[in-house]
Amino acid sequence: MNDWIDIGTLADIPQRGARTVQLGGGEKEIAVFRTGDDRLFALVNECPHKKGPLSQGIVHGHNVACPLHNWTIALQTGQAQGADTGCTPTIAVKQENDRILIARPVALSDAA
Ligand code: FES
Repeated sequence: MNDWIDIGTLADIPQRGARTVQLGGGEKEIAVFRTGDDRLFALVNECPHKKGPLSQGIVHGHNVACPLHNWTIALQTGQAQGADTGCTPTIAVKQENDRILIARPVALSDAA
């Protein structure tokens, strides 16, 4: 069962933008993306290529272009697109009323 964490409201993230969340406890930084059609996706904020900060990339459709070398990463799966290979872990995200909730990424957490 997921432990949901409230990270703010939809208005906190611009369309085709992202915000980052640091959960603490040694967990990796999470990037939460809002697409042009108001879908939400959350990924570990590291490109599968050389760990570029995906939150600073350009969102187009349901993809983000990495700011470092322009790989395209699918927001839904974290998979690199085209000829590139690699995958960034995804995190479950949902919206309840105007609040955004992300699942504590158990697989990435330190055992506590
Ligand atoms: S680090 Fe993202 S494309 Fe190279």
